Amino acid sequence: MIDLHCHILPGVDDGARSFAEAVAMCRLAADDGCEAMVATPHQRRGEWWNADRRQLAALADQLQTQVGPGFRILLGGEIHVDSELLDEVEKLPAGGGVLPLAGSRYLLIEFDSLGTEAEAVHLVHELMVTGWRPIVAHPEFIPWLAADLERVARLVALGALTQVTAMSVTCDFGRRPQNDCFALLDAGLVHFVASDSHGVRRRPPGLKRAYSLIAGRWGEDVARRLVADNPRAVVTDRPLPETV
Ligand SMILES: [Fe+2]
Repeated sequence: MIDLHCHILPGVDDGARSFAEAVAMCRLAADDGCEAMVATPHQRRGEWWNADRRQLAALADQLQTQVGPGFRILLGGEIHVDSELLDEVEKLPAGGGVLPLAGSRYLLIEFDSLGTEAEAVHLVHELMVTGWRPIVAHPEFIPWLAADLERVARLVALGALTQVTAMSVTCDFGRRPQNDCFALLDAGLVHFVASDSHGVRRRPPGLKRAYSLIAGRWGEDVARRLVADNPRAVVTDRPLPETV
């Protein structure tokens, strides 16, 4: 399994607070069956702007050294959406402050809780025509997307992909996010399950519980695609495998 969304870089956002905690998070993920994690610090959000890509890459390298060679740390960002984001994406790959996932053409984007569908449609369209593939982080926690399947379906039809959070699927955040995830899964509108882990205790890493639940309800093939096959396509910068 490959975890595409986690806050393991120490001291840059509300995730790991130290290298010790970051290493412990990686060990938890490895014990749970993960082979790699993409570190996705918050970017362009309030006090967590995190536009210094070189500093973030240095932290990821340091963490990789401490974790050792058996578990891969890749780098990306959870990019908060604002009206200047497209200008920032235009500066890629040489400049700008945002980080695609593992150097690929996939971008993990977090819509603002006060966003609108019209803005989202514009953003997804512009990203797609310029060769980027947006992955919408946890639609079940975006108030104007959660519980609106048709809205999510319209963004997916434009090319957006979606990532739900493992602990939403397993009901650790209550019935409402779980029900929204189940509805998205029923509709075939989920492309990735990731941990969005923030620490060793509060929101810890781990995908296996969600994997097992999804395998039981929607089948092994679906579960494997969401935690392994599709994330692997992202980190190797390939199109998602076709579904039959
Ligand atoms: Fe996150």
